[in-house]
Formats: sequence, C-alpha cells, structure tokens
Amino acid sequence: MQAIRNSENPMRTMDAFWAGQIKSKEWLIDQLSHQVKEPVSIDIHGGWVGVLASMIFQSGIPVKNIRSVDIDHTCESIATMMNKGEEIEGRFKAVTADMCEIRSDADVVINTSCEHITQEQYELWLSGLPHNTLVILQSNNYDIPEHVRWHKSFDDFKATCGLHFLWGGEMKTQLYTRYMIIGKKNE
Ligand SMILES: C[S@@+](CC[C@H](N)C(=O)[O-])C[C@H]1O[C@@H](n2cnc3c(N)ncnc32)[C@H](O)[C@@H]1O
Repeated sequence: MQAIRNSENPMRTMDAFWAGQIKSKEWLIDQLSHQVKEPVSIDIHGGWVGVLASMIFQSGIPVKNIRSVDIDHTCESIATMMNKGEEIEGRFKAVTADMCEIRSDADVVINTSCEHITQEQYELWLSGLPHNTLVILQSNNYDIPEHVRWHKSFDDFKATCGLHFLWGGEMKTQLYTRYMIIGKKNE
C-alpha cells in the first residue's frame, strides 16, 4: 500500500492491481511452476511496478534473483518498494531501460507487455536474447490506443512470436482475452 501511496500517479499504479492483471499473473506463475525445478534467475521485461516479481517471490517457485526492467522511470522506485525485502537481500533489482536495448543473461525471460511494443521492436528484443533462453510471453486482444500490437486470436499471436513453442493457452477476463506462450529462443 505504501508503494501505491508514494507513487507519482497512484491511480495509474492501482491499474496494476485490477483483477484481470492479477489473474493473468497467477496464471503465468502456475505455468512457470511446471517449467522450473532448480533455482533460476528471472528477467521481467516491461515489469511495470513490480507486482509480478513480488508474486513470483511469494509463490514458492525457486528463484535466485529477479530483475524488473521498464522504460518508464517512475516504475523503478515503486517496484523497488514492492520488493524491498528481496532488494535488501540482493535478490531484486528494478532497472529503467528499453527492453530492446538491455542485455539479458537470465535463465528465464518474461515479457507480459508484448501488446505495448510493435512487431519490429518485438523482433529486435527477441534477437537480443541468448539462444535457448526460456521465454514466457503474454499478450491480449484488447484494442485500445496504448496497445500497439494486440492480436485478434491466440493463433495470430503464436504466428508472430518466433519461438520454439513449448506451451500456450488463453484465458478470458472481463474485458479481453489474455494469451500466453512459453517457448525457447531458437537459433
Ligand atoms: C501497462 S504495463 C503492463 C501490461 C501487462 N498487461 C502486464 O501486466 O505486465 C506495460 C509496461 O510496459 C512498459 N514498456 C513499454 N515499452 C517498453 C520498452 N520498450 N521497454 C521496457 N518497458 C516497456 C511500459 O512502461 C509499462 O510499464
């Protein structure tokens, strides 16, 4: 709650806690738990205010560390506050950067903000990940101005993801359908 109260735009920060957002993250954590047996390092790109990082830390999934990357500089302090305990332990770091420009060597790279980057940005982002990285993507079919790359169906999303496909699915929320793909970065 402190993280919301102290943020520059509390109403915008509250958006991260809407039921659809939280359910999408619970769904991701459930699927991630099937993939991860050993402690892993995780990068969350488009990590927003650090809610997903916090939920993963609390989930029981074995995690070495999480880095949350967002291009919006206002997210860094809120995400840090959201994950203060782990930040003090050296297991969490929030970074302000463009996901297309930052290097990632984490075991798992998560991007739940696929609808916020163009196909061209997405391909640039993917090209920067090491081969064999376990990648988890989420997008949706929600056509609003800030979504520059929404998808009309799961198959449409899958066709543009450029991964070696391991698992995928869709989940209806009140306003939109959320899609998720788990895959490996290919050659
Ligand atoms: C509305 S939020 C998150 C949406 C998604 N449904 C979720 O829950 O993760 C989208 C975030 O992506 C971030 N973002 C957009 N383009 C980015 C980029 N090129 N690099 C890093 N973060 C980016 C925005 O700043 C914003 O915090």
